[in-house]
Amino acid sequence: MTRLNQKLCVVTGAARGIGAAIATHFRAEGAHVIVTDIDHAGATALAARIGGEPFALDVANEADWQRLAEAHPQIDVLVNNAGITGFEDGPVPQDPETATLDDWRRVHAVNLDGTFLGCRYAIGAMRAKGAGAIINISSRSGMVGIPGAAAYASSKAAVRNHTKSVALHCAQAGLAIRCNSVHPGAILTPMWEPMLGDGPDRQARMDRLVADTPLRRFGTPEEVAAVCVMLASDEATYMTGSEITIDGGILAGSAATPG
Ligand SMILES: NC(=O)c1ccc[n+]([C@@H]2O[C@H](COP(=O)([O-])OP(=O)(O)OC[C@H]3O[C@@H](n4cnc5c(N)ncnc54)[C@H](O)[C@@H]3O)[C@@H](O)[C@H]2O)c1
Repeated sequence: MTRLNQKLCVVTGAARGIGAAIATHFRAEGAHVIVTDIDHAGATALAARIGGEPFALDVANEADWQRLAEAHPQIDVLVNNAGITGFEDGPVPQDPETATLDDWRRVHAVNLDGTFLGCRYAIGAMRAKGAGAIINISSRSGMVGIPGAAAYASSKAAVRNHTKSVALHCAQAGLAIRCNSVHPGAILTPMWEPMLGDGPDRQARMDRLVADTPLRRFGTPEEVAAVCVMLASDEATYMTGSEITIDGGILAGSAATPG
């Protein structure tokens, strides 16, 4: 378990869910992990559990990234994982016709601006070595339209595209700084809780949500983390500007079991 030995890795939104699994897997592979989140108590608890270092960071706040750059001017890996759906405080309209501009901007501020700021910081913090890996957690929703979560889908599509701009920018500059995007489908994390609830229909809701997924189940945060380990490691040194789907096959087509 030394695939990330000696690497200094920063993970955003790492207090729980997919980010926590990535931080945990990175640590298990020998990395020194900076566990960042807007939820500092959660980040501190996870860091204590895995032997990482907590850092309070709101990805949408440029001043927080400047503080991180001062504390960690050189890093090897950044995972831009922090993200929101816009449903955190309950059901609000997120469709193209009735979503408010404020709600649209709030989602983009975290998912897209946060990723932009993260990439900008990471390139600077990887320049001295001239090498590194940036992993942007986009989504299956960045590849298809989602009428009920339009801002989320738009922000994740922009993350997918910005990943390629960053990859090309670094390659053109002669830097071995790789930037790739990961596109999970439905992964069972606390992000889903406001949509699943804890009522008697929870299981039925879950079943409905994955009815179109060929593997017919939610994925796990660990299944996403395993791919991130590979992308962060020196096994993936010829991968840049790439996108990997981890979605139980949903983007492969619509009918896993025709008839
Ligand atoms: N769970 C899924 O099904 C799924 C599918 C596709 C993509 N994703 C993406 O994976 C990433 C992680 O999702 P998750 O399911 O683990 O979500 P989650 O809600 O369980 O965890 C998100 C974490 O991000 C943190 N966070 C929120 N806003 C932040 C901010 N401004 N700055 C820093 N941290 C912030 C939260 O405190 C939380 O710890 C997100 O980008 C999400 O869009 C998730």
